[in-house]
Amino acid sequence: METVVSGIRSTGKLHLGNYYGAIQNFVKMQHEYNCYFFIADLHSLTTHPTPGDLHGNVKQVLVEYLAAGIDPEQATIYIQSDVTEIAELYLYLNMNAYLGELERATSFKDKVRANPDNVNAGLLTYPVLMAADIIIHKATKVPVGKDQEQHLEMARTFGNRFNRLYNNEYFPEPYAFSFGESLVKIPGLDGKGKMGKSEGEANAVYLSDPPEVIRKKVMRAVTDGGPTIENQEKPVEIQNLFDLMKVVSTQDTHDHFNDLYNKMQIRYGDLKKQLAEDMIIATTPIRDRINDIAADTEYLRRVARQGADKARESARRTINDVREIIGFRKF
Ligand code: TYM
Repeated sequence: METVVSGIRSTGKLHLGNYYGAIQNFVKMQHEYNCYFFIADLHSLTTHPTPGDLHGNVKQVLVEYLAAGIDPEQATIYIQSDVTEIAELYLYLNMNAYLGELERATSFKDKVRANPDNVNAGLLTYPVLMAADIIIHKATKVPVGKDQEQHLEMARTFGNRFNRLYNNEYFPEPYAFSFGESLVKIPGLDGKGKMGKSEGEANAVYLSDPPEVIRKKVMRAVTDGGPTIENQEKPVEIQNLFDLMKVVSTQDTHDHFNDLYNKMQIRYGDLKKQLAEDMIIATTPIRDRINDIAADTEYLRRVARQGADKARESARRTINDVREIIGFRKF
């Protein structure tokens, strides 16, 4: 059976981008593959959270994984820092990761631009840690959103380089995965780029947002003055709303508003109202479970412990092999 690995950084509440780009696929894949889904708390250290924030955020992601339908009996759910073998593999891979290629990573360049005062080495070697996360379980499929595509390419580079260096075929190649034809990119509500945590609170709709908050955020989404000719090409901010509708609404609803747009009869207020209601329908079952699961600390501890044991067992096997391949000797 093929192995699947994916993770989400513990930087706060999860949004629709995380859900449609990643978690929805986790839930579907757990029945068909040998799945490892983790909380990337080591990765979140690049932005220096306080111990209190880190603790709360790790719990939040664990709760939302479970609320979204990841079943700890089907998939291995664990916290990255519980599996120290990952950090060990990261160290080995770092010996063959080069400054030039790390500096060229788009995510690194974005981070440097956004926060020039915090260009730490962890940020630079972020793709190496991500490669270690994936190949520690010898995964071949990695369900992620479009923004992670380059990181997957780098994970293949580091795994292949190890294989070449030691003249073996130890690590298989991991590929970004989505059930659709292409990887998903969920737009935000600000009329610009993708939905994200760092793009401002109002840009993202969170799985835990109550209905009135969702309505308010969607009604405030950026629009234009409306089409001025029939079948007009949509400007980015309008296309974004239609793209969101494509994932949360039915095809009929999407086509209905698309027709109105093409005939210049669209009323953006109606479109937004419908979009907000469909987002509420999509997120309510998850939101309803979040509070109950969050209150059951004993259950959460059990899930994390069980997951860590299983993930460590798999990681240990790889690290033992890797140590032997590298040539560490025991006397
Ligand atoms: P992170 O925490 O930023 O996001 C977690 C997952 O959500 C997806 N995602 C989106 N998908 C579509 N549209 C969006 N607007 C959107 N926003 C976020 C991301 O693509 C991702 O799948 N580096 C990773 C975490 C990570 C990881 C790994 C993932 C660490 N190690 C190993 C896979 C395998 C990250 O920062 O994701």
